[in-house]
Amino acid sequence: MVAFPNIPQALLPADGRFGCGPSKVRAAQIEALSSPLLMGTSHRAAPVRDVVASLKDGLRALLAVPDDYEVVLGNGGASAFWDVACACLISSRAAFGSWGAFGAKFASEAAHAPHLEAPLIDEAAHGSLITVSPRGTTEGVDVYAYPHNETSTGVASPVYRVEAPSALTLVDGTSIAGAAPVDLPQVDAYYFSLQKALGSDGGLWVAILSPAAVERARRIEGSADGRWVPQFLSLSTAIGNSRKDQTLNTPALATIIMAERQVRWLLERGGMEAVSAHCAQASSLIYDWAEANLAARPFVENPTWRSPVTATIEIDEAVSASELAAHLRTLGIVDIGAYRGVGANQLRIGTWPSVEIGDVEALLACIDYCLERVL
Ligand SMILES: Cc1ncc(COP(=O)(O)O)c(C=O)c1O
Repeated sequence: MVAFPNIPQALLPADGRFGCGPSKVRAAQIEALSSPLLMGTSHRAAPVRDVVASLKDGLRALLAVPDDYEVVLGNGGASAFWDVACACLISSRAAFGSWGAFGAKFASEAAHAPHLEAPLIDEAAHGSLITVSPRGTTEGVDVYAYPHNETSTGVASPVYRVEAPSALTLVDGTSIAGAAPVDLPQVDAYYFSLQKALGSDGGLWVAILSPAAVERARRIEGSADGRWVPQFLSLSTAIGNSRKDQTLNTPALATIIMAERQVRWLLERGGMEAVSAHCAQASSLIYDWAEANLAARPFVENPTWRSPVTATIEIDEAVSASELAAHLRTLGIVDIGAYRGVGANQLRIGTWPSVEIGDVEALLACIDYCLERVL
């Protein structure tokens, strides 16, 4: 085990939170919890419902949501939305583009759902992706799904519709929604959690739904000989509640308040154009640094697939990346270790809209400071 050096205070970032979600929550978001003081009040009363309405409106503006698409929210985070989709959006069979841990998790849910046909899964190796293409009509696929940003490997995919008659395209935008533009008319469900680019806390999912997705849920849930859909997983119930700026059961109010504040802040900063430029700049600093550094390299070889928000970097095998991450943690730089099982010797760094460019520069200076003294 190498002995990493102490790092002079002047080199350290002002804020050392670089996790890939939960991500940095800004002080102004935390202050919003007490002013106005809505914590401890009913989510069914007007003041909280106004915040939900404002969050939905803000997301419409930030993500350029088409007028006929609905912004829906529910409890349980994106993981719960996978089960909602298995219950209410997949009629019979789904086909998945699967890469990294999070591509695989949705496919696995569908594979275990007893009411669904075995899914068709196209897998790509860690650090790469595949383009999902339409299956033949005999294969009976009615949903296609893939992640926009795969968080464990740091791979960002283009967002596109899989052109197949009557099939829905579902895209997991969990770790990039709010940080990169997305052409929503290409998809039927773009779903995400709020503890990533929106810098809030966990516990809720948001799904931007096309009319076709809303209709699919209505049809599956309304069919007389239909499957059992637990109420907690009912998309139609979530849609009905969201139209009233509510959720079926009690939501994490802090998550809603902090997300609303963040969406307003992102819009004030210049909206998607400015925010995505910020994330591209922050992540490029890391990729450029790694390419220029003999002791590091970007894990994702294809530059067009490199995530603008979750940068994965392989470190020279002479230095343990996990020990380096553990050392930096003692100095207040937290959560930059690899996702378990990804890469040989990796760091993973979140470059969210809330993460300052100066802090990314300081982080890289700190990593350099350590590497130069142990190699
Ligand atoms: C791409 C992706 N999808 C889904 C999830 C699951 O989100 P949650 O933990 O909010 O359920 C995550 C969590 O990190 C993720 O990164």
